[in-house]
Amino acid sequence: MADQIRAFIFDLDGVITDTAEFHYLAWKRLADEQGLSFTREDNDQLRGVSRRESLNRLLKGKAIHEETALAWMERKNNYYREYLATITPEHCLPGVLPFLNAARAAGLKIAIGSASKNARDVLERLGILQMFDTIGDGNVVLNTKPAPDLFVWVAGRLDIYTNQGVVFEDAEAGIDAALRGGFWTVGVGTANIQHAHMVSPNGLAGLSVQQVLARFKA
Ligand code: BG6
Ligand code: MG
Repeated sequence: MADQIRAFIFDLDGVITDTAEFHYLAWKRLADEQGLSFTREDNDQLRGVSRRESLNRLLKGKAIHEETALAWMERKNNYYREYLATITPEHCLPGVLPFLNAARAAGLKIAIGSASKNARDVLERLGILQMFDTIGDGNVVLNTKPAPDLFVWVAGRLDIYTNQGVVFEDAEAGIDAALRGGFWTVGVGTANIQHAHMVSPNGLAGLSVQQVLARFKA
């Protein structure tokens, strides 16, 4: 069992807010313009993985020049940022604010571990940027999920051992990353996350802080 749990680390997209639809619309726009097929099922495979890996998966083995890849990623990001402009504090998923407040009230540190380079911007639009002790985003490490590097970076910033942290993730790549790093894991939602230590199909709304702490009690 764990040492005493000292921190909760949250993925952003799919756990705190639902930006998956915006990622889908932005990639779909690019794919349509380039005559590539891209479905919602294809989009499910992009959950939690970096922009670069998303492009690789969208290309399905088709090779393009590096300059073209960079230009396409920038175009997709510009489309995505157009959609982000519509985000307001109402776009936190149900149960998120009470859960974050309860975690802080229980004396835990709270942090973000997101693959997105837009994470800070999204948090600011949601009005919750200042609540977190540390924000790890797509800019802080080279190796992205399912590599453990991002969560380990966050643990370092929080000054905790990885087995003192619980990671909340909606994506298979994110749960894999956290497990490899030696964290405790809570799978949020219904994607391919059954290998997490604990699963909450109804998101943070279906969980209490005390329930999570009881599960990982030393
Ligand atoms: C993750 C999303 O949080 O961030 C992925 O789940 C996305 O779908 C990744 O590809 C990178 O996001 P961004 O904003 O840096 O393109
Ligand atoms: Mg996610």
